[in-house]
Amino acid sequence: MLEGKKIAVMITGGIAAYKVPSFVRGLIKAGAQVRVAMTPQAEKFVTAETLKVLTKYPVLLEEQIYPEEVGHVHLADWADLAVVIPATANTLSKMANGLADNELTSSLLAMTCPKMLVPAMNSNMWSNFATKKNIATLKEAGLFVIEPEDGFLAEGYSGKGRMPDPEVILQALYALSALEDLKGKVSLAGEKVAISAGGTEEAIDPVRFIGNRSSGKMGVALAYVAALAGAEVTLVCAKSAQVLPVLPQIQTREITTARELNDVMTALNAEADVLIMAAAVSDFRVENQSQRKIKKDKSKPKATGLQLNLVENPDILKGLSNETTYLVGFAAETDHVEDYAKEKLQRKGVHMIVANDVSQKNIGFGSENNAVTILTQHSEVKIPLANKFKIAAAILQEIQRDRHQEIKKGCSFL
Ligand code: PMT
Repeated sequence: MLEGKKIAVMITGGIAAYKVPSFVRGLIKAGAQVRVAMTPQAEKFVTAETLKVLTKYPVLLEEQIYPEEVGHVHLADWADLAVVIPATANTLSKMANGLADNELTSSLLAMTCPKMLVPAMNSNMWSNFATKKNIATLKEAGLFVIEPEDGFLAEGYSGKGRMPDPEVILQALYALSALEDLKGKVSLAGEKVAISAGGTEEAIDPVRFIGNRSSGKMGVALAYVAALAGAEVTLVCAKSAQVLPVLPQIQTREITTARELNDVMTALNAEADVLIMAAAVSDFRVENQSQRKIKKDKSKPKATGLQLNLVENPDILKGLSNETTYLVGFAAETDHVEDYAKEKLQRKGVHMIVANDVSQKNIGFGSENNAVTILTQHSEVKIPLANKFKIAAAILQEIQRDRHQEIKKGCSFL
């Protein structure tokens, strides 16, 4: 996913620095080349030797010899992407004000590549007016900020300030890298985006249900990329998606059945600028769910079987108003993929359908990759096999392009 990417990991002095080696290992496993810079304070929490062994390259420090002349400028020119992790309130303040009083901040000041900041600090420091002002300044300047989590802090009490798990930050970097790889810029700043992910479940009895093979990965990748593109994202997770880690700044809602999903998406549609249904929704539910576990009727011959009466669930997308929201559906098909998707585009009254072939093992359900055809009323774009974060970025770019075309025609959902 990050093959060939040159990533500068800039470690500043917070307790969360102990999690950085595991993040660096994740980057290397994903194919990135990694170089590290550390502040003197960071060296109190994690050793430069550990990072040197992992990256097989000396760490940029204050007083040690770096392989290249003027190390901080060399690192700045080398990097395709930089991550400041953990980013302390002190370093954020220096960055917002252009201070360069150590090798790491000097390098950051000289860097022109995209930068992702992962603040981690005491909750009162995070909510302090000065930190808020600095974060706003840095966002305004185009830096990407991963908000801290609300949770148990090293201080022994709970609050907002915890660094998310390395896995979450790695996925945020996949999302950022996918956005940066696109030729045109995708910006969803100030937009409200609602996304559904995962497979709904319909109970048969207290222990069994009708479900499907959706893992939620496609919808979650869309949520990460939309959040990195600046949108205010609400992710509605069906059961399978509820176990996937998400960025703290993504609002999440949890549902089980198609009717619960219908209620939540209908409410979100009233506020959303863009609504994307990536969830795999059960078209049917059992008419009379048993309140007790269904037992085999041993008095009857085996061949009798069990009859379940299924009734239709609401078609969620079809019932949503497309007057003020740009509506996107997926089409999960096993044959005649594009023909069925075109039919769904018209029948569901949506602006876009993303067609994927779910008969193939390496794409669609459960896999890390997908390949899609994006259909609108006036275009058809094929996106070949790629990681779901790249597919998500391509879908959001097409949404932006199609919405702008509609603006010119004076459409009301903009
Ligand atoms: O979750 P992953 O493992 O990553 O897999 C991703 C995916 C294959 C699930 C995803 O890319 C996908 O195709 N999602 C849509 C699955 C689906 O339900 O497709 P459909 O062709 O049956 O439905 C068409 C559209 O109508 C979908 O956007 C669906 O969310 C929506 N729908 C379906 C039924 C229903 N009652 N109401 C709906 O709104």
